[in-house]
Amino acid sequence: MSVKSDKDFSIYFNPPSLSDAKKRGKEDVKVHYNFSIPEEMTGFGIGKKYLIRTYGCQMNEHDSETMKGMLEQIGYEATEEASEADVILLNTCAIRENAEEKVFGQLGNLKHLKKENPSLILGVCGCMSQEENVINRILQKHNFVDLIFGTHNIHRLPHLIKDCYFNKEMVVEVWSKEGDIIENLPKKREGMRAWVNIMYGCDKFCTYCIVPYTRGKERSRRPEDVIAEVRDLARQGFKEITLLGQNVNAYGKDFEDINYRFGDLMDDIHKIDIPRVRFTTSHPRDFDDHLIEVLAKKGNLVEHIHLPVQSGNTEMLKIMSRKYSREHYMNLVSKIRKAIPDVVLTSDFIVGFPGETEEQFEDTVSLVKEVEYDFAYTYIYSAREGTPAAKMKDDVPEEVKKQRLKRLNEAVAESSYKQNAKLQGQTVEVLVEGISKNNAKFLSGRTRTNKLVHFEGTEDLIGHFVDVKINKTTTWFVSGNIVVQEVV
Ligand code: SAH
Ligand code: SF4
Ligand code: F3S
Repeated sequence: MSVKSDKDFSIYFNPPSLSDAKKRGKEDVKVHYNFSIPEEMTGFGIGKKYLIRTYGCQMNEHDSETMKGMLEQIGYEATEEASEADVILLNTCAIRENAEEKVFGQLGNLKHLKKENPSLILGVCGCMSQEENVINRILQKHNFVDLIFGTHNIHRLPHLIKDCYFNKEMVVEVWSKEGDIIENLPKKREGMRAWVNIMYGCDKFCTYCIVPYTRGKERSRRPEDVIAEVRDLARQGFKEITLLGQNVNAYGKDFEDINYRFGDLMDDIHKIDIPRVRFTTSHPRDFDDHLIEVLAKKGNLVEHIHLPVQSGNTEMLKIMSRKYSREHYMNLVSKIRKAIPDVVLTSDFIVGFPGETEEQFEDTVSLVKEVEYDFAYTYIYSAREGTPAAKMKDDVPEEVKKQRLKRLNEAVAESSYKQNAKLQGQTVEVLVEGISKNNAKFLSGRTRTNKLVHFEGTEDLIGHFVDVKINKTTTWFVSGNIVVQEVV
């Protein structure tokens, strides 16, 4: 559809709709293997530069790598300077209100560039673009934006850029329904760690969460495609991969022709010669015994599990529609700990959910103490339009929410401190990431369990594994000295 507005913008508009997104059909998801850049776009970006700013989770980070890959394939070069760019894309996150406000703030800051360089294409993509209210706000208040597209059609980027150039009008192309799976999109990966999507979307519909609406229904990539990509990354010399999905434990549930789940995938990836394999995020509900058994084989499967719990109170979990109880979660933790004694567990929490009482919040603090997490992300509940929780009475006063966040952070910090202290005197394998931000003589890297380690060393070690003996531990990082230098 093409709409002429009074601003004389032509809008190619397939309006996003949360109610449409909520419908989960049984229709088959097709996999397309024949992606190619349209011939008329070849060389289109030569002599031009792009900048992509990414907000939100790893899924968005990885989508940005794909968009960079496509832009570079048509000739664009990367720049970090907004004033130099011919294309600026904001890849946005809708998870909380402050994530969205950041993007609107950025749009305000970038507005003057449109005056200085009228041929600049300023685009908004990612999860916010899937929201009706966001599109309306951009149309009304930020109509200098040239392009809006969503999470289901990033493969259309070359076409959309072309539309922008030739129409000089605002182009809006957002699909309310998820599309098929598109394989073989180019990707621009940097460093020695790589993200690998194993599935898209989420069907869990936790009552507070916008993701099932912005990312569509669960669709798993075929195992042979994931495995081929991991093998290729291994051949290219990547040291670590992170398998991505909003709920990786639901992997394979949508296959009708094969019985192949996340545990099977991990078992197959375990056999591939790549040093470290991580995954995120796992939902406690679908974490099955087979997966635990496979993870216990270790090897390249690291002993770190991010297992978001959100709340330690069963009643709260029910209202959040997490579909497990505190007891179920604690049983799962015990099973995992039994199978993998040195496992590191991390989590996400929401405080101040509608109706959360002081006692219910205390259950969350007690759970942190009981589980002894190594780290956790903690958030104040943020109402998201269109979600069931947004209709609940947001009755916890702001001050109380902040107080609870502070208390929870203290409990998490105490737990992190205790867990890190266990590393004192131990020798750990570290993948060296770069020069430490605070001291140029120091390098930083991560253990298998994702702990940040600082140690003295030279730049040539970046991208390699070293063994470090820990002599200092704090709440946020550990430090020590290199003992064995194993250049892999
Ligand atoms: N799929 C992952 C979570 C992805 S979102 C999972 O289920 O574990 C990352 C985290 O953001 C969530 O775990 C939750 O803690 C937080 N979050 C999601 N929606 C939120 C909201 N409306 N307000 C505050 N925090 C939220
Ligand atoms: Fe959101 Fe729940 Fe899905 Fe995670 S599992 S993305 S919190 S709906
Ligand atoms: Fe944000 Fe979308 Fe990820 S809402 S957290 S970028 S899936």
